[in-house]
Amino acid sequence: MSHAIQDQPRGPDGPVPRSALDAEAVKAAYRRWAGVYDNVFGGISAFGRRRAVAAVNALPGERVLEVGVGTGLALPRYAGGKRITGIDLSGDMLDRARMRVSRQRLDHVDALLEMDAEETQFADGSFDIAVAMFVASVVPNPRRLYGELRRVVRPGGHILFVNHFLADGGIRLAVERGMARASRSLGWHPDFAIESLLPPADRARARIEPVPPAGLFTLVTLTNGDPAPVLLRSA
Ligand SMILES: C[S@@+](CC[C@H](N)C(=O)[O-])C[C@H]1O[C@@H](n2cnc3c(N)ncnc32)[C@H](O)[C@@H]1O
Repeated sequence: MSHAIQDQPRGPDGPVPRSALDAEAVKAAYRRWAGVYDNVFGGISAFGRRRAVAAVNALPGERVLEVGVGTGLALPRYAGGKRITGIDLSGDMLDRARMRVSRQRLDHVDALLEMDAEETQFADGSFDIAVAMFVASVVPNPRRLYGELRRVVRPGGHILFVNHFLADGGIRLAVERGMARASRSLGWHPDFAIESLLPPADRARARIEPVPPAGLFTLVTLTNGDPAPVLLRSA
């Protein structure tokens, strides 16, 4: 266990961020962020998003679920052979994504739906790949998100997360702990530990890679339902 989470509050599924968000807090936060999101966050998160989509494009299978699709910043980057379904809790963020799809004529986007990623309406095994970019630290119950992605991705398919995870120590840990008090208005948890998302066995078999240039974000890739270590092509 990392130093960072030894004194993290614990729920039934493991450590939880210090100030939990609920669905209404998420919607309210992203109602405020929607108009400025691309300018405020688009730049800093671009490396992580590019890396995650490149990893998706390199994987087999065409049916891709993008959860927490937001304003759709990643949508133009998918390879032509992928068919994308995007879901988000925030109608305001989805409105922006829909404008992007129509403006850029993104024909590979099949649907953009207002839906809770922790409890979707998709049948088991509906997708080959699910990807969540900067979403795991926003959803109210990250373990429930992970369970739902395992259900809707076919066995042998892939689940990817790119996210910022709580630092192990040093100044960054202190800053993240301080920022956590503002979680509700920020709309994400600066003190989000990877242990809040993945059970220990899945963490052990996940491919976990820092994203250059600064390593502020991490790309996590799992093969669904496969207990063996994942062997994937590099993005
Ligand atoms: C930080 S933004 C990331 C948006 C996009 N993935 C990107 O890379 O820019 C987080 C998004 O997750 C969405 N979200 C949070 N909780 C959710 C949930 N339970 N189900 C679906 N979307 C959710 C928010 O509404 C918001 O659009």
